[in-house]
Amino acid sequence: MRILVIGGGNMGLTYAEGMSTSFLLNRHKLMIYDKSEELIASLREHSNFNVYDKIEDCLPQADVVFIAVKPFHSEALFSEIKPLINKEQIFVSIMAGVTIETIQNSLDVKKVIRAMPNLPAQVGKGVTSYTEAKEVSRIELLMVRNLLDTTGESIRVSSENFIDASTGISGSGPAYVFYFMQSMLEAALKMGFSTNDSKILVSKTFEGAVELFNQSDLSPNTWMERVASKGGTTRAALDSMEDNNVKELIKDAAYAAFDRAVELGNE
Ligand SMILES: NC(=O)c1ccc[n+]([C@@H]2O[C@H](COP(=O)([O-])OP(=O)(O)OC[C@H]3O[C@@H](n4cnc5c(N)ncnc54)[C@H](OP(=O)(O)O)[C@@H]3O)[C@@H](O)[C@H]2O)c1
Repeated sequence: MRILVIGGGNMGLTYAEGMSTSFLLNRHKLMIYDKSEELIASLREHSNFNVYDKIEDCLPQADVVFIAVKPFHSEALFSEIKPLINKEQIFVSIMAGVTIETIQNSLDVKKVIRAMPNLPAQVGKGVTSYTEAKEVSRIELLMVRNLLDTTGESIRVSSENFIDASTGISGSGPAYVFYFMQSMLEAALKMGFSTNDSKILVSKTFEGAVELFNQSDLSPNTWMERVASKGGTTRAALDSMEDNNVKELIKDAAYAAFDRAVELGNE
């Protein structure tokens, strides 16, 4: 199996790293194609990936093609690669908002999988949702799932609507967590902690809470009740959040991302 990653930017390289260090794939079977001369030069100097600057030298050899360019580059890319495609190739797109149907029609291919990863994929802790065109076989889907899993975990969803919905939860979600972290950092600094101590207090609190959650069957609500005793400090903080409707505002934010993902798909 030979894999081509088109677009060697943040996400393309994350997948390339994940796949090539996973033992699923021999590194020399992985190819990266990019348009940026600067990036190609840097990859050739600092990595041992097979980097291509001519699509005709790599695309025809690939069994699976990962498309990891920005959505606004998709049309130009489609025109460029269409003449070189063979219909047995499997296309995996991580482009936000670009539908399976658009890819099928633009490239005149059938076997398309659409996936939505997130940023923690860069440290092997990503979560990717994916769904497939009906022409993709179970074996092909399993193979691609194994590749996606090299950057963390993946979940198969039943329709593209859930790809847009997962953009609102896991795709954009790391930014919501950073927002919460930033707020706590600012509070810690205001209370007089040093930058370094604030960072430790906040990051370890997140890490520890997530670990507790992962290692039990308890819901976040139950954990909150366990931490917050009546008349205590945590109760005071949670009451303040409830009074300010923070939970509803976070839900609204997730829906705003979901709606925007749908909107981008229609543009
Ligand atoms: N970053 C995330 O957290 C995240 C999460 C979910 C989904 N995604 C999706 O992942 C995709 C890639 O995002 P990214 O952040 O990795 O982008 P990026 O860092 O900008 O990387 C894209 C690379 O593709 C190159 N490129 C553009 N047109 C090309 C073409 N026709 N042929 C070959 N290479 C081409 C770009 O070169 P130039 O710089 O010269 O244009 C750039 O090096 C996007 O579609 C995004 O929606 C990203």
